[in-house]
Amino acid sequence: MPLFDVYPLYNVTPVSGKGIHVYDDKGEEYLDLYGGHAVISIGHAHPNYVQAVTRQVERLGFYSNAIQNPLQKELANKLEDLSGCTDYELFLCNSGAEANENALKLASFKTGKKRVIAFSKGFHGRTSAAVAVTDNKNIIAPINAQQEVTILPLNDIEGVKIELKKGDVCAVIIEFIQGIGGLNQGTKKFFEEIDKLCKANNTMFIADEIQCGYARSGKFFAFQHYNVTPDIISLAKGMGNGFPIGGILIHPNIESKYGMLGTTFGGNHLACAAGLAVLNTIEEEDLIANVNEMSAYFISVAKTIPQIKNIKGRGLMLGLEFNFEVSDLRKDLIYKYKIFTGGAANKKLLRILPPLNIKKQHIDVFFEALKKALADIKSKTLEV
Ligand SMILES: Cc1ncc(COP(=O)(O)O)c(C=O)c1O
Repeated sequence: MPLFDVYPLYNVTPVSGKGIHVYDDKGEEYLDLYGGHAVISIGHAHPNYVQAVTRQVERLGFYSNAIQNPLQKELANKLEDLSGCTDYELFLCNSGAEANENALKLASFKTGKKRVIAFSKGFHGRTSAAVAVTDNKNIIAPINAQQEVTILPLNDIEGVKIELKKGDVCAVIIEFIQGIGGLNQGTKKFFEEIDKLCKANNTMFIADEIQCGYARSGKFFAFQHYNVTPDIISLAKGMGNGFPIGGILIHPNIESKYGMLGTTFGGNHLACAAGLAVLNTIEEEDLIANVNEMSAYFISVAKTIPQIKNIKGRGLMLGLEFNFEVSDLRKDLIYKYKIFTGGAANKKLLRILPPLNIKKQHIDVFFEALKKALADIKSKTLEV
């Protein structure tokens, strides 16, 4: 049976990984500055992770949400400790889209309203409401288009004000650092005004931390760079270091009710074991400090390369902008220099999303290769 062909693929077949590297079926080593799309937080095959998942699967991999699962409580407590989000409650699910779907549903339950405000170039997932609030018409099917959504330009605080006054908006959803949209960020004033406007208009403020959260921005959550209190915080990606797990943190102003949300797989034993190993490692290895140190180093070296016109993002969620489209550069980096990097909707942007325990020596390897790849491109252009 052929696979439903929805992914354009690079011709590389990773079969194992260790730390910041993956290895293909021919034994070739690749430096991973993409982290499997911001998923690999504590590094490939981290011993804490391997041990926790192995031990758990040997004991009990899964049971339903109809029984006591102390691992969920342990995960919630650790998440509270590390994030400093002391007032929130946790609901666990399996992916980013599902986290946002549940977040939007809760906002609608809580307020009795159904319109959502989202922002241009935002991405929130591919399920019903999550895709409807995503700014990409190509992935919204007619069945999703029924949702009432207003997409506003980033930083258009007047627009937010006008729309919220209409009284029918259940949620404002935003990425504090955009992922696929190209590392754009709102201003401090914009985020803090939205927070106030939401509170004044009975509208839930949803922070989509699926990509920018979990230490990646240099704080546990990217919204913590600002003075805001989201009503709902959605998580996934780095939360499981590759094991599918997502969740939402819910402010106690939203009361739970039996049956309000639910899932078969969400919060299963194996997912919790993976999630706990990630949090324990972030703490033990002081990865937030490493993110800040490596981010500063990465940016300082990037600034010395004249072809880089702009450095975007924060922490280890960075974008290098050139004055040409980077698809050939990415191919060169993968096939010739054996380095994975990411792309974005902005075709001139190279996205850098490494595991959070990356070291200076890896960054040096990347920049040496980048300089050579840029020189290759220059000489090719001259030949034409
Ligand atoms: C900001 C953001 N929200 C939501 C999602 C959707 O997550 P998932 O692919 O796990 O459904 C993504 C995935 O790239 C994302 O970057």
